[in-house]
Amino acid sequence: MRLAVFASGRGGNLRNIYEQITLGTLSGVELALVISNNSRSGAIEFAIEKGITSHHQSLAVVGNDPERLAESHLDALRTEGIDFIALAGYLKSIPIPVLTAYSDRILNIHPSLLPAFGGAGMYGMKVHEAVIARGCKVSGATVHFVTQEYDAGPILMQQSCPVEESDTAETLSERIWEIERTIYPEALRLVASGQVQIAGSRTFLDS
Ligand code: GRF
Repeated sequence: MRLAVFASGRGGNLRNIYEQITLGTLSGVELALVISNNSRSGAIEFAIEKGITSHHQSLAVVGNDPERLAESHLDALRTEGIDFIALAGYLKSIPIPVLTAYSDRILNIHPSLLPAFGGAGMYGMKVHEAVIARGCKVSGATVHFVTQEYDAGPILMQQSCPVEESDTAETLSERIWEIERTIYPEALRLVASGQVQIAGSRTFLDS
């Protein structure tokens, strides 16, 4: 499965996916393309360092023309023969032509137990701050398929962790990052193995 990763920031999930492929623990997946809206993101710097094909594609680059941005994404995806897309801290919405071309073939990871603490504006530390402010006793991470509605596609995998009384957004984010490192590669492994079926808003694994 030739994979493209879309990322805006630090690139921790991108590095982790790369490392797991290199170690042989994420078989069946080839990291073929990185797309970032931010030319100075850790993600794009990592891709350049490792020689992974990468593109800085954003509305600013294409003269604020959403159709041209969608075309640039699709051109890059087709050129690299991409089968599947993983969003990893990608803060822009995916254009509808890309969602249509890759229907049921885009995953995202979110640092809460969706549908709680998801949706527009819920990203990064804001999620953990909101979880703590609400007094939740558990949080976690969710891997889900991407649809037009933010953070609302079929859930493939979730794992929870406790929220401790002494937690800050920072300490909670570190605990959840450990979950992300485990479940995103695991989710990609499942998809690459062809075991995942989607039915409405649910996913099922072929036995
Ligand atoms: C992760 O917490 C992920 O759940 C969320 O954005 C963050 C990206 O981190 N969607 P990184 O750029 O992969 O380090």
